[in-house]
Amino acid sequence: MKDLLRVADLTGDDLTLLLRLATDVQNAPESAHDLLTHRIVAMYFAKPSTRTRLSTAAAVVRLGGTPVALGPDELQLRRGETIADTARVMGSYAAAIVIRTFADADVADLAAAAPVPVINALTDGHHPLQSVADLLTVQEHFGHLHGHRIAYLGDGGNVARSLMEAAALAGMDVAVATPPGYAPPDEAVAFATAEAEHGGGTVTLTHDPVEAVKNASVVYTDVWLSMGDPEDQRERRTKALAPYQVNEQLMLQARHDAVFMHCLPAHRGQEATADVIDGARSLAFRQAANRLPATQAVLYALLTERLVGRR
Ligand code: CP
Ligand code: NVA
Repeated sequence: MKDLLRVADLTGDDLTLLLRLATDVQNAPESAHDLLTHRIVAMYFAKPSTRTRLSTAAAVVRLGGTPVALGPDELQLRRGETIADTARVMGSYAAAIVIRTFADADVADLAAAAPVPVINALTDGHHPLQSVADLLTVQEHFGHLHGHRIAYLGDGGNVARSLMEAAALAGMDVAVATPPGYAPPDEAVAFATAEAEHGGGTVTLTHDPVEAVKNASVVYTDVWLSMGDPEDQRERRTKALAPYQVNEQLMLQARHDAVFMHCLPAHRGQEATADVIDGARSLAFRQAANRLPATQAVLYALLTERLVGRR
């Protein structure tokens, strides 16, 4: 497997390996410090980023390489150079390409033409690096994944989709509560359902937030308006998603030892209240910290050809 474009590219064993490698990185952050000596990793970000951009840069440095971050105005893409030509050229200098952009099709085109690994650092459809860090965080907190239920509440966008797919691959129980019309795509639900059954877990789609959090060990949410969503949807989304806000009252419906998770950035008072985000049960900042070992593990695994993949 050359690229990581979405969680569904991974097998269950690949995901287990990534979590083990990420745990190894936590224990020995610089153990592969010469993997990228004298090499660069190209990081193309067409959307803003705090965590992904910095944790990826830090991971590249720990592997001995130099990250080179580029925005859309710094390349020739907007002046008519094709994605395929860009990929071929970038691949002749860089050991890997990390890309955050809008359309998944653009990332697929880049990966098809690039001779080096391409990593999706968030698209409109997926956020695989986030999910690896999320499961690492759950595993770190509870000791294991199997038998735990993750309840995701809110918009069924990129973070929800990748989380649902990853949790199902890990054989967890996952419940996704969204308003009608906001569920993850059918294709993602079908993948997760099949994988969960295979691994001994379950997938539940509901419109009822209380049903979703019953017996949940993890209550997870994301922003209501994502970076790819048009600003004129804000009002409609806020109205539809308000009943899915994670607050103390909702947390009381989950397991007594349930934790709160959020990929960040968070909007206090919208998708979650400040007391939950900043409370003792919140793992949000642990998740953010875990983006570094998770991304380091992904880079290491792809660069050393350790992932099998499905395609
Ligand atoms: N969670 C996440 O991807 O954060 P950034 O958008 O800051 O990278
Ligand atoms: N769903 C959000 C996640 C941000 C990390 C977005 O795409 O903007």
